[in-house]
Amino acid sequence: MIYSKIISTGAYVPRRIVKNDELSKMVETNDEWITSRTGIKQRRISSGEKTYQMAAKAAKKAIENAGIEKEEIDMIILATISPDFFMPSTANLVQAELGLVDIPSFDVTAGCTGFVYGLQIADQFIKSKQSKTILVIGVEVLSKVVDWSDRNTCILFGDGAGAVILKSSNQEGIICTYTGSQGDLREFLTLPAVPLKNPFLPIPNNNGRPSNISMNGKEVFQFATRIMIKSISQVLKKSNLSIDDIDYIIPHQSNIRIIDYASRKLKVERKKFITNLDRFGNTSSASVPLALDEAHKKKMFCPGNRLIMVAFGGGLTWGSALLNWTI
Ligand code: UT7
Repeated sequence: MIYSKIISTGAYVPRRIVKNDELSKMVETNDEWITSRTGIKQRRISSGEKTYQMAAKAAKKAIENAGIEKEEIDMIILATISPDFFMPSTANLVQAELGLVDIPSFDVTAGCTGFVYGLQIADQFIKSKQSKTILVIGVEVLSKVVDWSDRNTCILFGDGAGAVILKSSNQEGIICTYTGSQGDLREFLTLPAVPLKNPFLPIPNNNGRPSNISMNGKEVFQFATRIMIKSISQVLKKSNLSIDDIDYIIPHQSNIRIIDYASRKLKVERKKFITNLDRFGNTSSASVPLALDEAHKKKMFCPGNRLIMVAFGGGLTWGSALLNWTI
């Protein structure tokens, strides 16, 4: 039986730290409100680094930590909602940056669930023996698509990148994955692309919507609390395990109150939930691999630990992965 397992992690965040107090000079907000309503104290913001550059830096660390030759990588899957181009994909740019040739590389867009979707796809390619070593990246430069005059959203988001190397093995790493989406709830969290504009429109369109994130926070909050529980329950059910068999949960880092709710509802000790949103905010596709990398670097996980990664976001989308930690 062929399984896939994570053999390394890597991460990169820009140096520039933006604390809540700095935002309170830009919009009507304050550190107390942001901290108590979200748990976020600061975030990292790009001072010019592009999405693919941050992704490549996280990827290089994952490759180095894996102790493999980069040529062993036979696929790159990259999750983002803030690419540098529609075409080429950010994964194509990372491929060139790493000096890799010929292998397939593509982007996945699933809001903040993108990394879990990417991991699920990679797991399938490995289990079907079409690939052996896949680089999976989650990366965002959300600072370029945030409306910095909208206090409902600008306080939440940050920039960063996280990556893992997934390798084929006869040791069971990823036990199961679960993903879902509900497009009819799309209006709750959106980031528009370019508006329709061409010389043949019956009525000329000169006022396309701005390309900024907009969110109905209350609706997303309610959805998030419900779907976190469902996503965790689904992978437990699929793998015939109970919540007591799980050592750590790595949730999407969007709001500490959502994570606290899941901890109470599932009756899981709060310390089993890995969090770093106080320092990085919500980095969408990058949030789960960033938190995973940080916890791994702190040597929180031991071989044999069971982990659940769980995420939700624009789409609306959601997903989870249950795995044995083997590093
Ligand atoms: O990764 C994508 C997933 N996204 C999420 O998970 C986000 C989910 N939603 C949330 O995290 C929360 O809904 C927010 C943090 C966005 C907002 O928290 P909330 O407790 O739902 O606040 P609210 O929107 O109900 O607003 C409460 C009050 C309002 O004032 P009034 O109408 O009561 O006078 C807002 O105008 O807080 C006001 N407010 C703010 N005040 C200070 C909203 N944003 C701010 C702000 N600073 N930044």
